[in-house]
Amino acid sequence: MTLTAADKVTIALADRSYDLLIGPGLLGRAESYDGLPTAADAVIVTNTTVGPLYAKTLRQALGARYRRIHQVDLPDGESHKDWPTLNRIFDALLGAACDRKTLLFALGGGVIGDMTGFAAACYMRGVPFVQVPTTLLAQVDSSVGGKTAINHPLGKNMIGAFHQPVRVVADLDVLTTLPQREIAAGLAEIIKYGPIADATFLDWIEQHLDALVAREPAAIAHAVKRSCEIKARVVAADERESGLRAILNFGHTFGHAIEAGLGYGEWLHGEAVGCGMVMAAELSQRLGLIDTACAARIRAIVQRAGLPVRGPALGADRYLELMRHDKKAEAGEIKFVLIEPGGRAVVRAAPDALVSEVLRACTG
Ligand code: NAD
Ligand code: GLY
Repeated sequence: MTLTAADKVTIALADRSYDLLIGPGLLGRAESYDGLPTAADAVIVTNTTVGPLYAKTLRQALGARYRRIHQVDLPDGESHKDWPTLNRIFDALLGAACDRKTLLFALGGGVIGDMTGFAAACYMRGVPFVQVPTTLLAQVDSSVGGKTAINHPLGKNMIGAFHQPVRVVADLDVLTTLPQREIAAGLAEIIKYGPIADATFLDWIEQHLDALVAREPAAIAHAVKRSCEIKARVVAADERESGLRAILNFGHTFGHAIEAGLGYGEWLHGEAVGCGMVMAAELSQRLGLIDTACAARIRAIVQRAGLPVRGPALGADRYLELMRHDKKAEAGEIKFVLIEPGGRAVVRAAPDALVSEVLRACTG
């Protein structure tokens, strides 16, 4: 297989640069794994849903490159993105006497990717890992950019590290087995890129939303590639989120509060982000950054994608309390990613009274 520019997006980070391979059939092709660091041991970290579907194909493609290929099957779900489950990866690595060159493969959605990446960042102070994202959300967002983490009861993704993968292999064919609710969740993160970075892409999404919901291969391929290109540009400019990268959290301040407030796993991450974008657009409008038509457009797109547009009735005070734990908060002041016309975003605080108004208007 010769990869062309059509299949590849590069994350340009000097000596930590890596390629995202995007296309159908990549998981089972040996060439997808050419040029990875050499290692005696490879460890596939997956879960009890994805493992039975795809681990054998990955094992076969990895073939004789490794002396041993181990597999760790974690329980499935956001509620398991925690210390005890993370520890099971370390138990397996140490139990098999894996050395510091061991290569981890994260085979699954964002939960597996985030946990495997964090394990790779910590094991023997850092081993390399490959992202093999199997959800739409993971292919367009979580597998790219090196953010790894687990949740804490007090806040989402609060314990983690920046640790870039050495490759991302995004096989579009695996999306055929994904439940429709997970497709919608992935669409939330795709939609996100429009208002924050690319007005033309938002137009395209609006025009092709039905095709995306129906998983038409050409539409999905374009959306995954364009999303990755936008994320690649942002990550290359600000890997550690000292500024620009925060725009990728559009909808996440409200969304993380929904996830933590309801208990992890009640709403999907993408559902919370979708609804969070509606709230953030509403706040942008009330601050005078966009007009009502623009906020209504975001709401309509999120709704057409099959995502919730009203938040759960946690109460405005509880939302504010949860949002004060957001990683962007500084000295207890909540920072929101807000949008401006033309595909631009700003990060700034907003008066609590105005945020409460938005919460009352958009929840319950
Ligand atoms: P997920 O990992 O829980 O996967 C969703 C569900 O789909 C799971 O039940 C999974 O087992 C199943 N699944 C996965 N692939 C499948 C397939 N091909 N066929 C059938 N079922 C399949 O959820 P997600 O939406 O992929 O990821 C959400 C997580 O990603 C959250 O924890 C979020 O915080 C994190 N995230 C991280 C970043 C980052 O930059 N690191 C960015 C966005 C989201
Ligand atoms: N998903 C947000 C980020 O990668 O920065």
